[in-house]
Amino acid sequence: MNAVDIGKDTDIDRLSPEAAAEELARLAELIAHHDKLYYSKDAPEISDAEYDALRRRNAEIEAHFPDLIREDSPSERVGAAPAEGFKKIVHARPMLSLGNVFSDEELTDFVEGIRRFLKELRDDPSIAVEFVAEPKIDGLSISLRYENGKLVTGATRGDGAEGEDVTRNVKTIAEIPHEISGAPDVLEVRGEIYMTRPDFFALNAKQAEKGDKVFANPRNAAAGSLRQLDSSITAGRPLRFFGYAWGELSDQIGDSQWAFLEKLKGWGFQVNPHSRLCKGVDELLAYYDEMAEQRASLDYDIDGIVYKVNRFDWQSRLGFVSRAPRWAIAHKFPAEQAQTVLNEIRIQVGRTGTLTPVAELAPVTVGGVVVSRATLHNEDEIARKDVRVGDTVVIQRAGDVIPQVVEVVLDKRPAGSKPFTMPDVCPECGSHAVRKEGEAARRCTGGLICPAQVIERMKHFVSRDAFDIEGLGGKHIEAFLEDGLIATPGDIFRLKEKCDEIAGREGWGDKSADNLVDAIEERRTVSLNRLIYALGIRQVGSATARLLARQYGSLAAWRAAMMAAEDEGSEAYAELTDIDGIGPSVADDILAFFDEDHNRKVLDDLTAQLTVEDFVAADTSGSPVAGKTVVFTGTLETVTRSEAKVRAESLGAKVAGSVSKKTDYVVAGPGAGSKAKKAQELGVTILTEEEWLALIGDA
Ligand code: IVH
Repeated sequence: MNAVDIGKDTDIDRLSPEAAAEELARLAELIAHHDKLYYSKDAPEISDAEYDALRRRNAEIEAHFPDLIREDSPSERVGAAPAEGFKKIVHARPMLSLGNVFSDEELTDFVEGIRRFLKELRDDPSIAVEFVAEPKIDGLSISLRYENGKLVTGATRGDGAEGEDVTRNVKTIAEIPHEISGAPDVLEVRGEIYMTRPDFFALNAKQAEKGDKVFANPRNAAAGSLRQLDSSITAGRPLRFFGYAWGELSDQIGDSQWAFLEKLKGWGFQVNPHSRLCKGVDELLAYYDEMAEQRASLDYDIDGIVYKVNRFDWQSRLGFVSRAPRWAIAHKFPAEQAQTVLNEIRIQVGRTGTLTPVAELAPVTVGGVVVSRATLHNEDEIARKDVRVGDTVVIQRAGDVIPQVVEVVLDKRPAGSKPFTMPDVCPECGSHAVRKEGEAARRCTGGLICPAQVIERMKHFVSRDAFDIEGLGGKHIEAFLEDGLIATPGDIFRLKEKCDEIAGREGWGDKSADNLVDAIEERRTVSLNRLIYALGIRQVGSATARLLARQYGSLAAWRAAMMAAEDEGSEAYAELTDIDGIGPSVADDILAFFDEDHNRKVLDDLTAQLTVEDFVAADTSGSPVAGKTVVFTGTLETVTRSEAKVRAESLGAKVAGSVSKKTDYVVAGPGAGSKAKKAQELGVTILTEEEWLALIGDA
C-alpha cells in the first residue's frame, strides 16, 4: 500500500483561505481517485484508516471554511459510498443536462438555431415557436419510476447514465405520490428535489444546536438530506419536489410540455406555478426579467430559467447535441451581488484564540437573504482587497449563504480612510495576539484569562455532545460569566449553592432555577468520552474523544498515560499515536493541554465533583475479544475493512493501525506485508479472516 499525504501536519486554524481552498481541491481529487480505485476497480491503494483520515480532514477544513465547500466536495457524497451505500440504477433513458446561455444575444442565437433546424420554420417565418419557460430550481434532479401506478424506484442523476437508488428516501417525501392513477403503465417522472430557504435555515439552526454538520446552502442541504443511508434521517428533513420532465414511457402522455405539466398536476405532483407559455425571444426575455426580479421573494433558490420547445414532435425531431437537448436551454442568472457600506471590522475570538476579522455591514438583501455580516477571513485577505472601514463593498451570495466581500467600490471610498491594521492585542483580554511565521491566523495568547475563549469553551462544555445540560444555553453562559456566577467549568456544578440568586435574576424564577439545578445534577455522572470531549482540546472532537476513552478506559488511566506521554520517546507516546485515527498533530494538542497548569486544575476540580464512568464498549460481556487490541491487514474477503473495524469495536476490541507488543491479534488477509511480518517477530497471534470470524462467532 502506498503512503498517502493526509495533510494533517498543517493545523486547520493556521490555514489561509487560499491554502484551505487548495487543500480542499487536493483532497477532492485524491478522494475521488481512491473512490474509483476502491469502488470501480476493486484495487485500493491506501488503507481504510488513511481513506477515513482524508475524508475527516476534508470535513474539518470545510467546517472551518464553509464558504469554500466545493461543488464536487467529497462530503456531498456522505454515506453514498456505493460498496456499503446505495445500489446503482441504470436510467432507462439517460438523464441529460442543459446547455447554457448568459445573454440576450445567445438566447436569440439559440432560438434562431431551432428555426434553422426545422425546415417548416426556416421556410415560413410566420410560424411561431412556443416555449415553456420554467424557473430553474436549484436542487438536485431525480427520476421517479412508476409501474402500474406505483412508485417503484427513485434514482439520483448520477453521471446521467446511472444514478443511486434512493427509493426508500424519496418515499419519505410527502410531495412525491406513492400511487398515481390514470398514468401509463411505465412512467418516469423527472424533476427537482429542493429545500425552501426558511426550512433550510431552521434545519441549520437545529443542526448547529446539536453540533451536527451545517449546510452551506439549500441545495447542499437537500442533497445531503436525500443521500442518507438511514432513510429515517431523510424523513425528518423538509424536502420538496417539482416535476418538470419525463424519462421512459409506455404510452404517449400528450403532445406538448404544457399538456404534460397539466397531466403531472392531475396525478398529484407539484409543478412550478410560475411556468409560462411564451412565444418568441421577446416574450422569453420579458419572462426572464420578471423572474429575475421575483427571484428574491420566492422562498426557494432558482438559478436561472429553462426554456423548452413546447411541441413534443418538434422536440423529438430536434433531438440532442452530445449530452444536452437541442430543444431546451438554461438561461442563468448572474451571481447575486449587492453593494453596502462596511461599518466596522470586528474581531471575533474563537475557542482556541484565533482572531477572525468580521465585516459588519449595513443590512442589505442579497438573493432573498438579509446580510449584515461577512467574514473577512484574516489580515492577509483584508490587505489583498484593501478593505477599509467606511468603504462601500460589493458582496456576493453565489448560491452560498455565507456572503463574501468581493471588492471595494473605490469611487465611493470616503476621504481620509485608512488601511485596516489587525490589532496586536486581543480585543477581549488585552493579551498579546501573535502571528507565527508562516501562519495566516493571529492568535490571542491569553488562554483562560481571555473572556472570549472562556465563553466559547464554557459553551462548548455544556453543549449537546459534551455535558448536554438542558436549559443552560449560550446566552445563560454569557450572562452567568459576566456576573461572576461561574468562571470555570467546575463552577457549573456549584451553581446549586446559588439557586436563590439565579431565581432572582431577570427572566428566571424559583421553578426554572430549580429545573436548571436538577438538570445539572443529572449530569454529575458523566461518561469518560463526553468528559474528554467537553474539555475542548483542539482537534479532539467527539469521535476522537471516544477513541481515547476506548483506549484508556478510565479517567485516571487516561490522565496518567497523557502525563507519561509527554516524553515523545516513551511507550505512552507510542501508544497514543498508535490509536487508529490519532496522529502526531492531534497527540501534540492533547499533550499541550495537559502541559498547562490551569487545565490540570480544571480537571482536578471536575474530578472532585463528578463521577466519571469508565468507558464500556456496549455490552461485551462474554465477548472473546473484549479489551483485546486487533490489527487488520491485507485484503479482507467477506467484509470491508471499515465494517470489520466497526464489528470488532462493537465487541469491545480496540482496533489499532500498527503492530506492537500490545497487539493481541493480527488479522491478516491476502497481501498482508510488513504488519504480519512484525507480528511474527513479536510473537503476536496471527489469524486468517476465517479464524477471526470463528473467534468472534460470525463464521
Ligand atoms: S429540464 C433534458 N427543467 O437543471 C432536460 N431542468 O442544468 C432536463 N433543473 O439536471 C432538464 N429546474 O437538475 C429542467 N425546470 C427545469 C429545471 C431543471 C432545474 C436542473 C436539473 C438539470 C439541470 C440542468
